[in-house]
Amino acid sequence: MKIVVLDGRTLNPGDLSWEPLKALGEVTIYERTEREQVVERSLEAEILFTNKTLIRKETIDQLPSLKYIGVLATGFNIVDVDYAKEKGIVVTNVPSYGTQAVAQFVFAHLLEICHHIPDHVASVREGKWNRQADFCYWNQRLIELAGKTLGIIGTGRIGVETAKIARAFGMRIIAYTPRPKPELIGGDFDYVSFDQLLASSDVISLHCPLTDETRNILNHDAFSKMKEGVIIINTSRGPLIDESALVAAFKSGKVYAAGLDVMAVEPPKERSPLYDIPNCHITPHIAWAPVEARGRLLGIAVDNLKAFLEGNIINQVNP
Ligand code: NAI
Repeated sequence: MKIVVLDGRTLNPGDLSWEPLKALGEVTIYERTEREQVVERSLEAEILFTNKTLIRKETIDQLPSLKYIGVLATGFNIVDVDYAKEKGIVVTNVPSYGTQAVAQFVFAHLLEICHHIPDHVASVREGKWNRQADFCYWNQRLIELAGKTLGIIGTGRIGVETAKIARAFGMRIIAYTPRPKPELIGGDFDYVSFDQLLASSDVISLHCPLTDETRNILNHDAFSKMKEGVIIINTSRGPLIDESALVAAFKSGKVYAAGLDVMAVEPPKERSPLYDIPNCHITPHIAWAPVEARGRLLGIAVDNLKAFLEGNIINQVNP
């Protein structure tokens, strides 16, 4: 059985083992694959793994042997899952390898915005503290999270984990999701309408998947309904935010700061105007990437394939 991994490098740059996957078939691993190489590389594959390489209808049509697509990630918007279903191709994802890592990363961004630690450390190294008349100084506004309202958009695994951590910081938590889960109401947070969330949150954190419904969920209209000086965190998917609307919201003072681990185009093709906004902190899509989380991801991806081969499909996203 031929197994092709189209873009294995980000998942495993060399610190994990592919051996458990190799035990399941004849495996070819590419570090990365350009769009025009996908078909030629996957032609005989029955099993395809992709992390961020797009698998669209046109590609699926040219791969007659294909039976299974394993997405090496949680978000599976890179695969045309409905068309795969029409063709009888099973698509699986890895739903929960990185829940803790991503929720932790929300607070890495938030705490950076609240305390600016690298900036203060750099100023101490540069000698600024030695030149002070007082015992302390701070370069920028410092923020306490206790008592602030966190608005969570999307109360799935990562949203709920983020709420738990926020609670430990003493934050008040409100959430919006189109289909609230009754068991979560009155729990760690209160469900509110989308507009109420926008109007009441000091910090808004995005945890919904990218779908037609959520694309540009934070657009000009949404920013206009937010509190002055709101903080935006996006560890979910870049296109959830209309980036030009975010730039405008920074310029008007509506947004005080943002922590973005994802952008509309990855890697970005051009220099974004967001790079030049001092309180806009952008990281290169690394929330998922601690070695512990990547190891778990690879293990679950192999288990997904084993289950498929044994006829007990798990983690299918197009049932
Ligand atoms: P999940 O599937 O457990 O939760 C997503 C939640 O969003 C669900 O509760 C769903 O009902 C809700 N939702 C759907 N449509 C919505 C809408 N229109 N408005 C508000 N909520 C809506 O997914 P999980 O594990 O919590 O992951 C969330 C997202 O995080 C993923 O879709 C993925 O894009 C992103 N992610 C990012 C990573 C990174 O490295 N930055 C790593 C892993 C995931």
